[in-house]
Amino acid sequence: MRRVIYPGTFDPITNGHLDIIERATALFDNVTIGVTTNPAKNPLFTVEERMAMIRHVTQDYKTVQVDSFSGLLVDYAKRLGACAIIRGLRAISDFEYEFQMALVNRKISDGIVTVFLMPNEKYTYLNSTIVKELATFGGDISRFVPPLVEAQVKQKLRK
Ligand code: PNS
Repeated sequence: MRRVIYPGTFDPITNGHLDIIERATALFDNVTIGVTTNPAKNPLFTVEERMAMIRHVTQDYKTVQVDSFSGLLVDYAKRLGACAIIRGLRAISDFEYEFQMALVNRKISDGIVTVFLMPNEKYTYLNSTIVKELATFGGDISRFVPPLVEAQVKQKLRK
């Protein structure tokens, strides 16, 4: 069985992430979404809240599992028995960071492979930070995230 891990902060999950998840399910037998905390980011949602949203919006994908991890991604990938790490690549601006991360992960592991998937080009500009900023200033995020996520972002920002 070919299991992959799709790691990320997912604060919150967007339609762009869902596009990558769908592509990954077509290529691999099992896709584990690994939610973690990126120390460089100040999350809006707890890991548990992010996982609950992801579980809800991926419930139709029978080969998708949602999990969380802390520590090094490559250690988690090894524990899972993942054959590769999935990362989304939207634009050239993503490339340098992703390239560096993939090479470091390969170096510090037994050569783990990172597979880059490109989402539909309509998501090129989309990320969780933009969604949160839009919502903070009352912008419409309904085109960018599933309805449940839209509701949760609005509720969180009201608090
Ligand atoms: O969604 P993000 O914030 O772009 O995801 C980045 C993430 C979580 C995949 C990355 O920060 C990560 O792998 N964190 C775990 C710690 C780790 O292994 N760091 C070394 C990567 S070179």
